[in-house]
Amino acid sequence: HGTASINDEGHLEIGGCDTVELVEKYGTPLYVYDVELIRSRARAFKKMFDKHGVKSQVAYASKAFSSIAMLQLVHEEGLSLDVVSGGELYTAVAAKFPVEKIHFHGNNKSEEELEMALDHEIGCIVVDNFHELHMLHHLCQERKQNVNILLRVTPGIEAHTHDYILTGQEDSKFGFDLENGQAETALAISLDSEYLNVLGIHCHIGSQIFETAGFLLAAKKVLEKLSLWNNEYGFVPKVLNLGGGFGIRYTEEDKPLSPEEYVEEMIHEVRKETERLSLPMPEIWIEPGRSLVGDAGTTLYSIGSRKDVPNVRKYVAIDGGMSDNIRPALYDAKYEAILANRALDKQEEVVSIAGKCCESGDMLIWDLPLPEPGTNDILAVFCTGAYGYSMANNYNRIPRPPVVFVENGKSRLVIKRETYEDLVKLDVPYGEKTTI
Ligand code: LLP
Repeated sequence: HGTASINDEGHLEIGGCDTVELVEKYGTPLYVYDVELIRSRARAFKKMFDKHGVKSQVAYASKAFSSIAMLQLVHEEGLSLDVVSGGELYTAVAAKFPVEKIHFHGNNKSEEELEMALDHEIGCIVVDNFHELHMLHHLCQERKQNVNILLRVTPGIEAHTHDYILTGQEDSKFGFDLENGQAETALAISLDSEYLNVLGIHCHIGSQIFETAGFLLAAKKVLEKLSLWNNEYGFVPKVLNLGGGFGIRYTEEDKPLSPEEYVEEMIHEVRKETERLSLPMPEIWIEPGRSLVGDAGTTLYSIGSRKDVPNVRKYVAIDGGMSDNIRPALYDAKYEAILANRALDKQEEVVSIAGKCCESGDMLIWDLPLPEPGTNDILAVFCTGAYGYSMANNYNRIPRPPVVFVENGKSRLVIKRETYEDLVKLDVPYGEKTTI
């Protein structure tokens, strides 16, 4: 993946940094991000829009991995930003991300979160439901403040992916239904409000999607509705946001397209349909998360204990697990891995990689061929850059690992390792007085 290679000593190298040296310096577990790969993905998405002369915003879905340094990098590459909570917005503000390029998502934004977004005058709020629409209108009225919005609609599309990360189907908690009149009512309310400026429509059909058919069908369905609304309300959409969800390759079974291919097909479809429906070509916005950072991240672990169950299985345990990568336990997600310190050794054994959490379900990889792994060998698990750190937790009171960025032979710590003191920082001992 990316700048990863194997050096003369048989060590895995990423961004010109020897991973064995990274482990000596920062310890394990350790998340390592290949900055050059993130940059190249960001540029690939943008390039296609430029090539076709289509106005666009590529908003990084920061739920995939957010930190101040990450958002600085996203800004450096000229992308916009999708946040889904006060916490993600706070991080964006702390990173001095240009507020006009921030888009705020979420199916249950609180009044405080909406006020925070209005205080910072962010670029747009993606309104998900009637509760939010009314609340936002009233807040804006009180403050005499205008705000740009997109209306999130559910296009009624079943994309092929894991059920938990499906979002575009009719039976979904997200968005206004396109088919039963909800979306149209939401549009009418928004157009009535002198404070809400409807830029256009948003839809997102799911995550880790390989085929373009779902995106194209969603675009077509939404544009057909927009054409009806154009006749009915004279509404001319400036923006069509087609969400994120572009798949990446975790294992050889995964066959994603390139960022360029996804974008190019979307552009063709939107162009074709707008021409057919005599609508002006809107700006196309997208929100890639996983496809910008997923394969740029590698987690390095130290191997510790081992248990062989004769004729059944060889368990090899690492010093992390579902606390730093919950995806195998939650989605049955698959990963590939190698021994970073002996990357050229022959794969003589098939072992199963166990995490250190007190759960039988904390298994990172089943049946992985490796050179006979021993204590202190370093296991490099690939493609952990998206929804790894961002879904990390303190189960079993395991501190979260640090994150380093590597580029051109240099490594930079961007998130420190959590300490035991951090773990008890918010605890209030029984009987001690405290403010709430
Ligand atoms: N836009 C919206 C409205 C979303 O809900 C999401 C993801 C994205 C963009 C970014 O999707 P991406 O390009 O990263 O696929 N935790 C799960 C993934 C949940 C995705 C939630 N929404 C996982 O680890 O697979």
